[in-house]
Amino acid sequence: MRTIAFVTQKGGAGKSTLASNIAVAASEAGEKVFIIDLDPLQSLVKWSKVRGESDIAVEHVPLAKLPRALEALEKKGVTLVVIDAPGQDSEVSCAAIHAADLCIVPARPNVFDLWASEATRVRVKEAGKEYVFLLNQCPPAQQNARVEQGAKALQAMGGLLAPLVSARVDYQEAARHGLGAAELNPYGVAAAEMQELWASVKRRLKKIPAARVEARPAPAKTESARPGRPKPAAKAAKAA
Ligand SMILES: Nc1ncnc2c1ncn2[C@@H]1O[C@H](COP(=O)(O)OP(=O)(O)OP(=O)(O)O)[C@@H](O)[C@H]1O
Ligand SMILES: [Mg+2]
Repeated sequence: MRTIAFVTQKGGAGKSTLASNIAVAASEAGEKVFIIDLDPLQSLVKWSKVRGESDIAVEHVPLAKLPRALEALEKKGVTLVVIDAPGQDSEVSCAAIHAADLCIVPARPNVFDLWASEATRVRVKEAGKEYVFLLNQCPPAQQNARVEQGAKALQAMGGLLAPLVSARVDYQEAARHGLGAAELNPYGVAAAEMQELWASVKRRLKKIPAARVEARPAPAKTESARPGRPKPAAKAAKAA
């Protein structure tokens, strides 16, 4: 079982959109996918309710239950866990980073997102985790100086996933219907983008040695984790 986490301290960079879309693309490619929604806003739990299908389970897991939930998922034969983290530096995003084999840090091509990416990179490096950046919501005509500059900056910070993900209505429409772009419009460009993205992630995962889930360390409290931040009130993880 491999675990990927979408993390960045910047809200709105596309974590939930990309997490749901890659989950669908990976599922269509034969993976047994489980989404753990760690965001107290539970965007993907809501997405799953609209979806109504049981092919990709989505669950909000309280932090304390995360290690046991991962252990249980591995025993159940899940092959890919996709974690959606909240858009802030917190105990929760720290736990997402620690649980992941690969942290994917999405950023839009603007300086605020790039600065936030650097801050997230520090957190991921502190945790000793593998990471890669992803440029999201690029203008569809990608020959754009802002996109080029963003791509170069992220490449220099540690690596950029292919492809660059464009801003497309299909992603927003798919979310509205509880779908991935690959299901909304299977022959569309967004669908192809997500299939290519999953292929890139899979290649990266192959290079990362598998860690036994039981051996994963408990999430460390970092200096910037907000003290006294209330734990999300969530139902018990069915998976645990
Ligand atoms: N590639 C894209 N094309 C078009 N719209 C997109 C794309 N990626 C994200 N969006 C839109 O941008 C908004 C923010 O995306 P999303 O909710 O996935 O970000 P997030 O990082 O999960 O935010 P938060 O930190 O608040 O959880 C949403 O309205 C989503 O539909
Ligand atoms: Mg989100």
